[in-house]
Amino acid sequence: MSNNIGIHDLEAATAHYVLPLDALAEAHGIDPAKFHRGLGQDRFSVPAPDEDVVTMAATAASRLLARHPEHHVRMVIFATETGVDQSKSAGVFLHGLIGLGPHVRTVEYKQACYAGTAGIQAALGHIARYPDEQVLVVASDIARYALDSSGEPTQGAGAVAMLISADPALVAIEPQSGLYTADVNDFWRPNDSSTPFVEGKLSMDAYIEATLGSWDDFTARRELKVTDVDRFIHHQPFTKMARKAHAALAAHTGVELGDELIEESMTYNRQLGNAYTASMYFGLAAQLHADTDLTGKRLGFFSYGSGAVAEFFTGVVQEGYRAHLDAAAAVEELSAREEIDYPTYRALHEAHRTVSDDYDVEPVTQAPFRFTGVKDRVRHYAVR
Ligand code: HMG
Repeated sequence: MSNNIGIHDLEAATAHYVLPLDALAEAHGIDPAKFHRGLGQDRFSVPAPDEDVVTMAATAASRLLARHPEHHVRMVIFATETGVDQSKSAGVFLHGLIGLGPHVRTVEYKQACYAGTAGIQAALGHIARYPDEQVLVVASDIARYALDSSGEPTQGAGAVAMLISADPALVAIEPQSGLYTADVNDFWRPNDSSTPFVEGKLSMDAYIEATLGSWDDFTARRELKVTDVDRFIHHQPFTKMARKAHAALAAHTGVELGDELIEESMTYNRQLGNAYTASMYFGLAAQLHADTDLTGKRLGFFSYGSGAVAEFFTGVVQEGYRAHLDAAAAVEELSAREEIDYPTYRALHEAHRTVSDDYDVEPVTQAPFRFTGVKDRVRHYAVR
C-alpha cells in the first residue's frame, strides 16, 4: 500500500467564446462594479454550439496524456453536473475520443460541484490498492443559468483533467478528510430543465455552513491548526464567495487569515466564471502556476457542491513541481477565447438545444474535438 498518492499532472481547457461582464452590466442597466467588486468576476466563458462537457474534457485530457505517452490509466472518472445522457457516462464518449484502450473502468460521478473531489478520493483509494496504475479524473461543466436571472453573471465553462498516481509530481494528498452532508434545496436542476433553480442567499449560507462543518470534522480527526495550512483553495462559484468562506473560517477559528492565502488561486476563475466541478481545480491550477514557490507547502482544499456535500482535505506540494507545469498554455487557453457582444451571447443562450431530436451542428471552433450533432437520437463527435 502506498501512502504517497496524489495529483501527478493536470491540464485545463475552456470554451470558445467569452463575454465581458461589462457587456452584461450595460445590457441590464447594472453598475459593473457589482460584478467586478460585488461578485469578484470579470468575464465568463460561453460554449459554441459544437462544444459541450465532452469536447472540453477531451481537449484537456488529450493534452494531459500527450505529456505521458507511457501512462497506466486503468480508470476514468468523469465528474459533471452537465451530463449529456441519463444513462451513458460522458466518460465513455471521452474514452473513445482520446483513444484509450478497452481495459479501463469508466464512470460518471455527480453531486453538483463536489463530484470532482469525489472522483479524486475514489482515485486515491484505487491507487492505494493498485500503486502501479493511474486514474484519469476529469471535471468538466457548463454553468448555464436562466437569462435575466440573478445567477446569470455567475455562468462559465471549463474542464480540468488530472492524472492521479503514486509518487505524484505535483501534490501529494494527505490521508485525512473532513466531510459534511446536509439535505438542502439551495440549488438543483430537475431532469426537464436545462438551467438550475437557485435560492441565492440560502446557497451562500449552505456553502458556508458546509465548509465550516467539513473543517470541524477534519480537526476532530486530525490535529492540524489552521496556521498549518499555507494556502487555501476554495470552490469558487464567483471569487467573492471564496473571500466570504475565508473570512468565515477566520471568524470560526479565531485566527486572522490574510487574503494572500487565497489571492493567487482566484486569477483564472475571475476570467472563466463558474465551472462547477472544475472550479476548485482551476483554483489549484492558478495557485500552482503563480510565481510563489510552494515547494513543501500545505494546500487546504474546500470543496462544495450544492444539495449539499462539502469536503476539506489537504495536500503537500512536491519538490520540483514547477518543471511539470505549463502555465503559459493555461493563460493562452483563456486569452485565445473569442470575445462576443451581448446580442451574440443572448442568441447563443436562446439557441441552446434541450431536446435530442436529430440535428447537425456546423463547425465553429478550431478545438481538437467537436460535437457534430444528433443522428437517430445518438450524440456524435469528431476529432479534428
Ligand atoms: P444578487 O442578488 O444579484 O446579488 O445575487 P446581491 O444583490 O446579493 O449583490 C452581490 C454582491 O454585490 C453583494 O456583496 C453586494 O453588496 C455587491 P456582499 O454584500 O454579498 O459582499 N454589490 C456591489 N458592489 C459594488 N458596487 C456595486 C454593488 N451592488 C451590489 N454597485 C447571487 C448574487 C450570488 C445570489 C447570484 O449571483 C446567484 O444566485 N448565483 C448563483 C448561485 C451561487 O453562485 N451561489 C453560491 C454558493 S452555492 C455554490 O457555490 C454551488 C454552485 O457552484 C452550484 C453547485 O454546487 O453545483 C452554485
